[in-house]
Amino acid sequence: MIRKCLFPVAGYGTRFLPATKSMPKEMLPVVNKPLVQYGVEEAIEAGMNNCAFVTGRGKRAIADHFDISYELEHQIAGSNKESLLSSIREVIDQGVFTMVRQREMLGLGHAVLSGEPLIGPEPFGMVLSDDLCVNPDGPGVLAQMAELFRQFRCSIVAVQEVPAAEIHKYGVIAGESLREGLYRVERMVEKPTADEAPSNLAIIGRYILTPDIFDIIRDTAPGASGEIQITDALQRQARDGCVMAYKFAGQRFDCGSVPGFVEATNHVYEHMYGR
Ligand code: UTP
Repeated sequence: MIRKCLFPVAGYGTRFLPATKSMPKEMLPVVNKPLVQYGVEEAIEAGMNNCAFVTGRGKRAIADHFDISYELEHQIAGSNKESLLSSIREVIDQGVFTMVRQREMLGLGHAVLSGEPLIGPEPFGMVLSDDLCVNPDGPGVLAQMAELFRQFRCSIVAVQEVPAAEIHKYGVIAGESLREGLYRVERMVEKPTADEAPSNLAIIGRYILTPDIFDIIRDTAPGASGEIQITDALQRQARDGCVMAYKFAGQRFDCGSVPGFVEATNHVYEHMYGR
């Protein structure tokens, strides 16, 4: 039912400099697969075959990754290396990939609005691919959220419990518990101190958004940092009781930070090779 997924990938990835000087952060490999491909595979698994990227300057490698590479494929055709391309071939066969550029980095809310021409008036998923999510024992996080959307028909944010010392890095929700792991969001605070935080439930990079979010963002003034935050727009939907928070099944790695990236790499490597 949700057909499209938005991937805001315009950020500079400064925490990974110099690696990200001329290469998109989203193309950093976790073992042998770029971060963004994990996100796209999760979206396709959830039925969101239409993947819309909000890119920026220096991000062309992402578009190339989701396209055929004739020369390379010709070169390894018939060799034992051919199978190494099978996962990306499968993704390319199943997906439709569209791109738009965010001309200025004015925040995640602005990136979402830049994606409007690719999404249109329909609910959509959103993946911040620097969060790598895995759930080996069941459906992926986005598929879990798509199932919930069928029931509630409102925006959904994925949340995770985080320790007090980490809470200042996240958007944090306050809400009414509807059942184990599911909340109706009443309020959100962006990057609170441990004392200000209304709970230990932090928003991570998986969302389902209803299309009214575009008009709300258009109407949202930039915050103190000059950026348009998605949390401010979601807060408006939450006031009308239209945002759910979902404590997902699975594990999430913060690959936007070096320690999280290393942890994800070790996890995937152990899983792949049983080490
Ligand atoms: P981050 O702030 O975590 O990513 O944005 P960053 O700016 O790329 O990384 P650092 O902090 O400099 O290391 C979260 C997500 O939102 C996207 C980023 O690409 C990332 O996926 N984003 C953020 C945009 O697409 N546009 C923006 O204006 C801001």
